[in-house]
Amino acid sequence: MMRIGEKLGRYFSLVSLSSVLLITVLSNIGMNVFFTTYLRSAQESDDQAIAEYTRELLSEDGLLDEQDLMSIEHYAFTMKAEVILEDEEKKVILSTREPVDENGNIDDRVNYMDPETFSYREYSYGEERTIIIGRSKSIFSASPDRNFLLTINFIYLVSAVMSLFIGMLLKNKIKGNFLRPIYAIQDNAKRIEEGKYQLVEDVDSDTMELDELAGSIRKMAIRLENQEELRKRLTADIAHELRTPLSTVNSHLEAFIDGVWEPTPDRLMLLQDEIRRLTSLIKDLGDLSYMESGQARLVMKKINLSELTADIMEGFEPLFLADDKTIHADFCEDVFVFGDADRLNQVLVNIISNALKYTDQGSTVAVTLRKRKEQAELIIKDDGIGIDEKDLPYIFERFYRSDLSRNRSTGGKGIGLTIVKSLVEAHKGTIRVESGRGKGTTVTIALPLYSTSL
Ligand SMILES: Nc1ncnc2c1ncn2[C@@H]1O[C@H](COP(=O)(O)OP(=O)(O)OP(=O)(O)O)[C@@H](O)[C@H]1O
Ligand SMILES: [Mg+2]
Repeated sequence: MMRIGEKLGRYFSLVSLSSVLLITVLSNIGMNVFFTTYLRSAQESDDQAIAEYTRELLSEDGLLDEQDLMSIEHYAFTMKAEVILEDEEKKVILSTREPVDENGNIDDRVNYMDPETFSYREYSYGEERTIIIGRSKSIFSASPDRNFLLTINFIYLVSAVMSLFIGMLLKNKIKGNFLRPIYAIQDNAKRIEEGKYQLVEDVDSDTMELDELAGSIRKMAIRLENQEELRKRLTADIAHELRTPLSTVNSHLEAFIDGVWEPTPDRLMLLQDEIRRLTSLIKDLGDLSYMESGQARLVMKKINLSELTADIMEGFEPLFLADDKTIHADFCEDVFVFGDADRLNQVLVNIISNALKYTDQGSTVAVTLRKRKEQAELIIKDDGIGIDEKDLPYIFERFYRSDLSRNRSTGGKGIGLTIVKSLVEAHKGTIRVESGRGKGTTVTIALPLYSTSL
């Protein structure tokens, strides 16, 4: 297994080397194709200029004397061209190269040609006279051209070496800038694996994805730490919920058995209450696991939420009155949702009982129902003890009860809101709680409005 820095370094060198190689190959091909075409056409116009020059010299007096031939030879030399001049009888009168075979027919142009190395083009000058101009087949044959090619390729070689070198420098820079956060994230992940959530450190990175990854890992650590905390608390809470009623029942029964107490109907009713409490706790837990397993079947139909809420509030009125509290409504008429009446009833009863439990005498609870953006919005607002900010994120966890409410010995089990949340979500709705210590609590439930397309 290779370390990421090593791997990146290799990729870097490979990429820079292959790009230099590619540039070398492509530009050599380019030079050969495009540059050759360019040079050839330049040569062709030079050749025409030589032919034209020869014609001009001839037309001056109809003859090419020694002087003219020398000028032509000189001109051809400056143009780096081979020239063979034939007169009207096809006899070679000038050649810039020595004849190849001195024994053969020296006048024959073939003796002055080297078709292996040169390609020849013919032009006419005067009647029946031919000027043959030869050019090297290899375009880079002339030494300045060859040098040019060699220099270019040498530059490529230097750039290959330099890019390797730069690649190595960059590799180190990458290790610093780019890899440091990755290693830090890796360390954080290890700490999480070992359960050392407190040791997870902040990671700074200017790379967006890494920054997001570091943030997610950090949030994950906080979440896991909270979950662990909640799990411990849950065990303690369950033990507490079970222990209190059981020890009450046990101590009463012992007292009856020992003959210390008479089992009067009042005392027996108290025991029955405790057992009822336990049974309801077990029922709630059963309900919850049933719902969370996704097996809960909701009997969905069109429901007038305005009427349902009004009925429930009517049921609560005597309880509020008895506690010297008020509950009042602000309703939109005929707000229809698609839902399970019994389950929605359970949701509302849970939230209104919380509002009743966690408020002081003389308080007011306001229930508002309105339509908002294709949704039915139900707001239950109380001015009670409120929920501390530190407890707020956990109130939907099973058995979670804030210390504020524990102190009031309201007898809550801490399951109500857990059930409410899973029921609201089963109705494709959302629930939101805003609160603060001593500031009262506002619960907002949004459910999709009934529509015929459902
Ligand atoms: N309106 C409210 N005002 C203040 N605190 C509240 C309110 N509603 C809920 N809470 C806090 O949230 C906790 C969880 O509420 P939840 O309804 O789940 O449990 P509970 O009321 O304690 O018990 P039960 O399972 O019987 O409903 C409560 O214990 C309380 O601390
Ligand atoms: Mg409750």
